[in-house]
Amino acid sequence: MNAQDKPVEDLSRAEAEEELARLAAEIARHDALYYQQDAPEISDAAYDALRQRNMAIEEAFPDLIRPDSPRWRVGAAPASGFAKVRHAVPMLSLDNAFDEENLRDFVARVKRFLSWSDDEPLLFVAEPKIDGLSINLRYEQGRFVRGATRGDGREGEDVTRNLLTLKDLPKQLKGAAPEVMEVRGEVYMTKSDFAALNRRQEEAGGKVFANPRNAAAGSLRQLDPAITAQRPLRLFTYSWGELSENVADTHWGFLERLSDWGFSINPLAERCEDVDAMLALYHRVEAERAALDYDIDGVVYKVDRLDLQARLGFVSRAPRWAIAHKFPAERAITQLEKIDIQVGRTGALTPVAHLTPVNVGGVVVARATLHNADEIRRKDIREGDTVVVQRAGDVIPQVVEVVLDKRPEGTPEYDFPTRCPCPLQTEVVRHEGEAVSRCSGELACPYQQVEKLIHFVSRDAFDIEGLGEKQVQAFFDWGLIRTPADIFDLQEKDGADGLTRLKNRPGWGARSAEKLFEAIEARRRISLERFIFALGIRQVGQATALLLARSYGSLERWQSAMKQAASERHAAPQARKPEEVGQAYAELCDLSGVGMSMADEICAFFHERHNLEVLEQLEARLTVEDAVAPVTAADSPVAGKTLVFTGTLETMSRSEAKARAEALGAKVAGSVSKKTDYVIVGADAGSKARKAAELGVTILSEEEWRQMAGEAR
Ligand code: IVH
Repeated sequence: MNAQDKPVEDLSRAEAEEELARLAAEIARHDALYYQQDAPEISDAAYDALRQRNMAIEEAFPDLIRPDSPRWRVGAAPASGFAKVRHAVPMLSLDNAFDEENLRDFVARVKRFLSWSDDEPLLFVAEPKIDGLSINLRYEQGRFVRGATRGDGREGEDVTRNLLTLKDLPKQLKGAAPEVMEVRGEVYMTKSDFAALNRRQEEAGGKVFANPRNAAAGSLRQLDPAITAQRPLRLFTYSWGELSENVADTHWGFLERLSDWGFSINPLAERCEDVDAMLALYHRVEAERAALDYDIDGVVYKVDRLDLQARLGFVSRAPRWAIAHKFPAERAITQLEKIDIQVGRTGALTPVAHLTPVNVGGVVVARATLHNADEIRRKDIREGDTVVVQRAGDVIPQVVEVVLDKRPEGTPEYDFPTRCPCPLQTEVVRHEGEAVSRCSGELACPYQQVEKLIHFVSRDAFDIEGLGEKQVQAFFDWGLIRTPADIFDLQEKDGADGLTRLKNRPGWGARSAEKLFEAIEARRRISLERFIFALGIRQVGQATALLLARSYGSLERWQSAMKQAASERHAAPQARKPEEVGQAYAELCDLSGVGMSMADEICAFFHERHNLEVLEQLEARLTVEDAVAPVTAADSPVAGKTLVFTGTLETMSRSEAKARAEALGAKVAGSVSKKTDYVIVGADAGSKARKAAELGVTILSEEEWRQMAGEAR
């Protein structure tokens, strides 16, 4: 009897393997007939029976599940590229520490946040920071169901089929596991596998990879899993995403459970009792680094107790309870051929060193930033010098120092230019107390205009597909766009006024022009935080843009408040305290993370007539969506309310209370006014509590506040 005709329970292992291969091919063929050719050969019931047989055999022999098993496919595969996966829990990054002092500050910060005294012992887990690609692995009922790359942290790519080729990846967990469990870790390639792969690639005339990390990334993102299967990838796990139940009380306990389930965890991880133990481990791992068969770029320390991790929470995109202690950068010696000046979007002039290309820790470096005029003077860097360059992680390469005895005699000092390299050749200005030199051409400087436009369309701003640096520069040179609003008129004006149609321009065709116009149309609707970030106001990064969007809610409210603040500031340029400037200005400064220097930049932006025109033009062309408070805040009684904390709190520090309130969608202000909704009064509260009573603002005790915030039960 053929294996094909046997009931599942009678199959031997070898027969099961044979059957799974046959079924995979058979089902794939029927999928293609059905989905792609609209010409099914068998009935739906017969098709279902094939799938059921496949599943039943896989249940009986889970270790035989194939990378091309039908279980990984629902319907037809996308024609090209990977399907997108939205992460149930965002994938975050880590803050960095570069030296002992940074590390001590971190530990002190954690304790302060928890209201612990300095000498109270706090356990950390230290583990190597693997230089690979982070990945999210989803398990349901103990079965691996999907794997996705980090992507932008919120949405990654579905690389399930490629991950199945990893020997380190358990397809079925050992022992009991939660209903839903997402495990996170790092996919990497060993140094020896990397070297062997590059040798093979070289012989075959294929692409040679710069370092193991790039090789791992390129291999995991292969559209054909058969290619991934030939590229040995490995996995270390260290974190989690969605979990349907708690699995441990400590990070250490979590690592142990990972290992029990069958995951590989890094053998160098250790529990540390204090900063000295953390540093000792750091130096031990650093000494072993070169001998390890995988790249690491530092040590990650994590607060061990998970309840404390939960209290500490996150700031913007990184946890407060962890930090990455980076290893010193790798260095190399080369020639500095020439110093070039680059103009940024805010007019800052950045000197860039052009180097004789040199290999620094596996990456070829040909340029390095020199930061500013002071740096060049301090290090006495001159054109023609021999220099030491270093690269730290993904950071831009830097010139560390000059090798003075290699300097040719008579080499002149470097003169920082006094005129901008832009066609206007405007004067270079340097404001008191600032390290940067700026082009005084401001909005007229074409170099700045281009950089502003590039920022406007960048990934975290308008994110217009097909409109990158190169295209923006070309459109600018052709006179098609000058200000952001012009982008949204591109299609309408295409070919008008005797302009050559885009599709007839070098590098463009009818299809690519059409696609670009579609991508632009898709962005006529934009979230308020992206809109604010896109404006490129100095000091206003993504986190601040989000904060402003959530605090003011709509473009209209934000704009009118900022115009008000700007005119207040203009009238009181000397004032040194927010309250002395005016109400709108003080409210802006009351937002956590906004200081006077940032508020001044925002005011300067709103004081500039040209910027107001740009805003008007954009408003006429776009729909800017109102910001919504974060999901967790949706049903919180304090969402949208303004709170003031005063006095000493007992159960948490002021910064924890503030973070908690903001997470619930509340605004936390520093002073009491008529706009305050609640004042939370701790021990020894003084004038603020009195003022609240005078103004008739609701006063809450710490306990009442905790109940409102859902902390007390
Ligand atoms: S923990 C919420 N542990 O480093 C924090 N990350 O710079 C989750 N990485 O995106 C990260 N080794 O890709 C953690 N032992 C380790 C790590 C590690 C490497 C990567 C990870 C993360 C990035 C942050």
